[in-house]
Amino acid sequence: MKKIIVTGGSGFIGSNLISLLLKKKYFVINVDKLSYSANSYNVKNFKKNRNYLFYKTDINKTSKILQILNKHKPIGIFNLAAETHVDRSIDKAHHFIRSNIVGVYSLLEAIRKFENNKVKKIKLLQISTDEVYGDIPNNKKADENHNYNPSSPYSASKAAADQFIKSYSRTYGLKIMIAHPCNNYGPNQHPEKFIPKMIFNILNNKPLPVYGNGKNVREWIYVKDNCEALLKIFLKGKNNQNYNIGTGIRLKNTEIAKKLLDIAKKRVAAKPNKTKIVFVKDRPGHDERYALNSKLIKKEIRWKHKISISYGLLKTLAWYSKNYNYFKRISKKNITKRLGLKI
Ligand SMILES: NC(=O)c1ccc[n+]([C@@H]2O[C@H](COP(=O)([O-])OP(=O)(O)OC[C@H]3O[C@@H](n4cnc5c(N)ncnc54)[C@H](O)[C@@H]3O)[C@@H](O)[C@H]2O)c1
Repeated sequence: MKKIIVTGGSGFIGSNLISLLLKKKYFVINVDKLSYSANSYNVKNFKKNRNYLFYKTDINKTSKILQILNKHKPIGIFNLAAETHVDRSIDKAHHFIRSNIVGVYSLLEAIRKFENNKVKKIKLLQISTDEVYGDIPNNKKADENHNYNPSSPYSASKAAADQFIKSYSRTYGLKIMIAHPCNNYGPNQHPEKFIPKMIFNILNNKPLPVYGNGKNVREWIYVKDNCEALLKIFLKGKNNQNYNIGTGIRLKNTEIAKKLLDIAKKRVAAKPNKTKIVFVKDRPGHDERYALNSKLIKKEIRWKHKISISYGLLKTLAWYSKNYNYFKRISKKNITKRLGLKI
């Protein structure tokens, strides 16, 4: 049975990815330090699976990662361990530098030490982001050769990690690939993020806080589509290549909020009559628009998203309504000050 390490597997995308990998009969080793954004609820379904193993470890611990590599000899690593909330990076960048830059350096060092004198190499798939390209003007799209132009401490930390990874490929011959997914949504996402926050407020008949004028455009992908793309890149991608993972579904924040409200009005028993969009003070440095050119993944990897935004949002709203306890598991002290959720 082929073994794969997923770092950050107790978070949003990581837990959805593990679920896919287990279905595809991989043996999955989850390495997660269990920060505030991890949730035991996310991994409850595979905790007892014989093909699943968990290490509570920080990717900064090179010697521990090396031990895990030596013991299990996996075919590859999907690195999703990261600090991920832009607002938090604006409040304090320290943790972002530590996990997203130094953590990646430590992981690279562990791989380098593991590969010393070994003929067989393991593949590292780094999960970067579309945010490294920065603001993309209207009618333009960023392909994989677009300049890095990060705007927030979060995206700057992800951009720095990508550069380290590239340098380790060139200097030490590590086998690496870098994925740039657009904004993910779906089950298991921490409620401080935009879509779960909107859903929580809809379910509680509260106003929907949207930054600035609400016109910021994001490209959206249902998390399961993204995980399928990641696995395909891992299996079919070229060494040392970056791959954008986009859908072309680009919507303003207000459009997402309105779509969720419309779905809820039709589907949710307790009607969100008092729920309406309210505009709040904008995020500093807020990027106006992200837009990916994803021709490469379509042509080379033969991947295309399957889930439409209407169906994806419906599924997401249904999941959060059914798993309302998810919100309750998030303790008050872990909620960001900006646009804070009051539970
Ligand atoms: N969510 C999105 O829309 C999106 C889009 C593009 C790229 N990404 C990238 O995908 C990855 C996963 O994002 P997510 O939304 O699932 O994040 P998340 O915040 O839900 O999960 C991150 C996980 O990483 C763990 N972690 C953090 N620092 C760690 C460390 N030093 N050592 C070990 N574990 C650590 C956390 O405990 C958590 O379980 C990130 O690298 C993020 O930059 C996310």
